[in-house]
Amino acid sequence: MTTNNGTGGVLWAGRWGFVLAATGSAVGLGNIWKFPYMTGEYGGGAFVLVYLLCIAAIGVPLMMAEIAFGRRGRGSPVEAVKRVVAESGGGSAWSILGWMSMICGFMILSFYVVVAGWSLSYLWKAVSGGLNADSVEGMAAIFEDNNASPLNLGFWSTLVTLVTMLIVGKGVQEGIERSVRWMMPGMVVMLAILIGFGIFSGGFGQAVDFLFAFEFGQLSSEGLLAAMGHAFFTLSLAAGAIMAYGAYLPAGKSIARTTFTVAICDTLIALMAGLAIFPIIFANGMDPAGGPGLIFMSLPLAFAQMPMGTLLEIVFFVMLTMAALTSAISMIEATIAWLVESHGITRNRAAWSTGIVLWLVSTLAMLSFNLGADWTLGGRTFFDWLDYLTSRFLMPLGGLGLALLAGFALKDRLLRDELGLSWGGHALWLFMIRYVCPLAIVVIFIDALGIMTLEMATQWPWGLAALTLFVVIGEWLSPRLRRQPAH
Ligand code: PHE
Repeated sequence: MTTNNGTGGVLWAGRWGFVLAATGSAVGLGNIWKFPYMTGEYGGGAFVLVYLLCIAAIGVPLMMAEIAFGRRGRGSPVEAVKRVVAESGGGSAWSILGWMSMICGFMILSFYVVVAGWSLSYLWKAVSGGLNADSVEGMAAIFEDNNASPLNLGFWSTLVTLVTMLIVGKGVQEGIERSVRWMMPGMVVMLAILIGFGIFSGGFGQAVDFLFAFEFGQLSSEGLLAAMGHAFFTLSLAAGAIMAYGAYLPAGKSIARTTFTVAICDTLIALMAGLAIFPIIFANGMDPAGGPGLIFMSLPLAFAQMPMGTLLEIVFFVMLTMAALTSAISMIEATIAWLVESHGITRNRAAWSTGIVLWLVSTLAMLSFNLGADWTLGGRTFFDWLDYLTSRFLMPLGGLGLALLAGFALKDRLLRDELGLSWGGHALWLFMIRYVCPLAIVVIFIDALGIMTLEMATQWPWGLAALTLFVVIGEWLSPRLRRQPAH
């Protein structure tokens, strides 16, 4: 049992507390804003297939590991990783993984509040009748106009930052758990209404074809890395969120079961969002590769042409804003928990001081759409860099590190206790976390760096040889890595 409880004994109060909070974290702008436009950009079905494979092969085992780390370490990700490694007698260098996760969550939130701000400002426009253009060009002009003024855009992202900090500052049960308890069911109902309308909009068949007809040749190495990065992003992995929430999970709850629930809900909602959005895009002859503005330009146009359109539009942006908020709070929980535990300050104070730093960084990200549009490096704005660095590098590399730590460096007994799986279940999880996760991440990276092409790796003799080699080396290395230092 953990006596040195870094969370001060705080646990989720309700039976559904963790599942709702973790699903709230996973389901967010990633599902509704990012997934459709990335699928559009990277050509549809092939991207979706790789994304789904990554969720199953990398995401699920890794999420289980993260929750186990959190619960075993009972502290912020920084502290949890440190404690679990210490308990296993491992080297302190692994604690970098906790830091990386926490920083990654903060970086994501810095651009996330800008997109959530778009959503909030569109909600306001919907209510006040400001989304009244009747052409794609007209909607694009509204989107650009909304971005053009730093004061306007800054107002909305600041509002999102404030609300996020207000919820998080109130505490795990009173703030986070209480807000997800009504926001999550609300979101599901609203999404169901929207999909109902999507089915009747005329472009449904084409949307299904686009999402599920996969041609492997369409997917570039870049798209492959993007699909893997997105799998991490959408499951909130290696960004401190899931581990921080895992620290409040009562002993005895099944980690595997909750992970499956979260992963299935997240995947279904992304696919549902795709099925709700692409019919509209095809029915109106729009370009699916419309970029980050896709849902903000296409959907309002479609809503404008529907009966009860304004009402549906309001429902949509309320839902999107709630989805964004339940994710935003999870991204910053790691930082808050770390400040409370390492500096002994109250949650409220931790939230407000974090909020100020966040506000500064997110303001820079917000300026990427107006004053700072030209402040680019390698063709990317500050906003783009935050997104690119976190999704393509920090999360997959952090995930690789966590998989290696969980699979090889820790004493097997530790996570075996925590996960509490059957013998076969544990063997399968261990195989995934030791070999499949790292190998998949490494292969996709190597492919993206252009050293080797994926075709080589998918030619099965090569793939099999690589896996065998990896397993042999891993099995040889793991007992040696895990050997206790002499006392
Ligand atoms: N999973 C969230 C989404 O899909 C984003 C997120 C990333 C949340 C990392 C927490 C941590 O929108």
